Amino acid sequence: MTIHEVRKKYLEFFESRGHVVISSASLYPENDPTTLFTGSGMQSMIPYLLGEEYPKGNRVADSQKCFRTQDIEEVGDNRHTTYFEMLGNWSLGDYFKKEQIPWVFEFYTKVLGLDPKRLYVTVFCGNEDIGIPKDEESVNIWKEVFSNVGIEAKDVDNSEDRGMCDGRIFYYDETKNWWSRAGAPQDMPEGELGGPDSEVFWDFDPDELKKTHENSEFSKKPCHVNCDCGRFLEIGNSVFMEYQKTADGFEQLKQKNVDFGGGLERMVAAALDEQDMLRIPVFTSSRRVLESLSGKKYGDDKEETRAFRVILDHLRAASFLMGDECGVEPSNTDQGYVVRRLVRRAIRYGRQLGIKEGPWTQKLVEAVAGEYEESYPEIRKNEKRISKWMQDEEEKFMKTVERGLKELQKMEKPTGKELFVLYSTYGFPLEMSFEELGTLASDQEVLTEEFHKEAKKHGELSRTASAGKFTGGLADQSEEVIRLHTATHLLNEALRQKVDPSITQKGSNITSERLRFDFSFDRKLTDKEVADVEELVNKKIGEGISVERKEMPLQKALDSGAQAEFGAKYPDTVSVYSIGDFSKELCAGPHVSSTSEIGKFKVLKQEAVAAGVRRIKATVE
Ligand code: ALA
Repeated sequence: MTIHEVRKKYLEFFESRGHVVISSASLYPENDPTTLFTGSGMQSMIPYLLGEEYPKGNRVADSQKCFRTQDIEEVGDNRHTTYFEMLGNWSLGDYFKKEQIPWVFEFYTKVLGLDPKRLYVTVFCGNEDIGIPKDEESVNIWKEVFSNVGIEAKDVDNSEDRGMCDGRIFYYDETKNWWSRAGAPQDMPEGELGGPDSEVFWDFDPDELKKTHENSEFSKKPCHVNCDCGRFLEIGNSVFMEYQKTADGFEQLKQKNVDFGGGLERMVAAALDEQDMLRIPVFTSSRRVLESLSGKKYGDDKEETRAFRVILDHLRAASFLMGDECGVEPSNTDQGYVVRRLVRRAIRYGRQLGIKEGPWTQKLVEAVAGEYEESYPEIRKNEKRISKWMQDEEEKFMKTVERGLKELQKMEKPTGKELFVLYSTYGFPLEMSFEELGTLASDQEVLTEEFHKEAKKHGELSRTASAGKFTGGLADQSEEVIRLHTATHLLNEALRQKVDPSITQKGSNITSERLRFDFSFDRKLTDKEVADVEELVNKKIGEGISVERKEMPLQKALDSGAQAEFGAKYPDTVSVYSIGDFSKELCAGPHVSSTSEIGKFKVLKQEAVAAGVRRIKATVE
């Protein structure tokens, strides 16, 4: 059983239940200023979860390429990876729990062939403070589906403390059974969507013969399905997406949605009853390459196995991030910085395995390209480019490592300032210093603060801002981002008025420090053009024009001349943001209410992105 077979079976299963199968979106979200990477299938679905009509229908299934930086510290155990594929099914205001839960169960037991006696489920226990009730409806449905296969499913509360008590269905609070992109309810920004969820777990050790829990560091407390001992593996999550965060609590959405996501690699691990997910076939050829490079055997030694896993994950992730249609090369900012970190971290663990002779990373790219030849041909297609980027990075990094480590070893108990010097002089990343020194999380906070203070003094803003993002899922949703977002609309129109009326938007990305705007144009702007554009944007800011949002039929919006350049498929009803009669765009927001809130607009730099596409980076003060 391979991921390719399971993916196919899954999509066929949901297709035959009325779902339209859509292909994976890029790993780089389009037109979403708040996130660097696609970390769930949900990102591109937000307008439809909110009630806009999805042109292809209200039942959708997909297999989405996902990248989650927030799991990086856990990579190295038996089940976490930064890159993974998530199988999804979506109800956009169509079916709900009583259809979806039995489907999930049927897929697991009939199609994947999982023994129902080894499946356990969790549900949300409710939280009075935020007014969200206990999910009894799901409990009753689960009881019924288990009962249909002759299993009496008892529900148990507080298994974290009491143990499993022969239960089958377990209640957990919002730290486990609530899903939003930002995490638990209290971490959600206003406007964010979320809901209670119900997860399915596979038991690797039903007779406790392998003594997974007893032999783990968690053995002092009772085992339960969310215990980290490795006995249980979460293989799917049905999110009942029906709430939106407001200024003072939660509001029920117009419609009840389902967002199911299940890790494809995890499903295969369960189907093969393979407790080490990094041993499923998708990693086999990469693992062999690594074994031959290092002369070590996967599984022989605990620490080395961890190193193997980190490398297998990071270089697969980096191959996908570089091979994506919007792929980026290692750099010091934003997504490029994350790619750099992955490659460099893999190389470091390679050294731990005794791989000293480089460059070697491209050999893993070759293995990944071969494995995904059919399902994600972009890796093979872009293999040359990926390999070159990896090799260049490897060469650069090897120089850095030797010098940086030598300096770090000289330091007794380095300050954040010293770590910054190490970074700015040798390119030695802060996180790597922490790893090397084994710094405690509490000390890391202090050092990070000192580091950033120092970085600011040296004008290293954007690099370190990206460093901060490496740990978080949702990037900044701050006021700066919103101001820059509205500034982007002004810039878009100013370019047409001052440079060329045929310019259209090709992409946009915003962080709290700057906007980045890609547009169709085939030469560098002259200094005069840049100055004219800046002047016009600042003039519109000075006029304090109010920004207005209107919903209207798509055709009407297009007929009225609204810009719609994201290459996206639009629903029948769209939201249109107008800035007086200066700018009008199809857009999901958010925006400032008056341009006077934006501040002074300034172009930082311009560059070429691809043939016929230019990029402007700008900021507001
Ligand atoms: N969106 C949910 C998740 O990512 C299914 O886990």
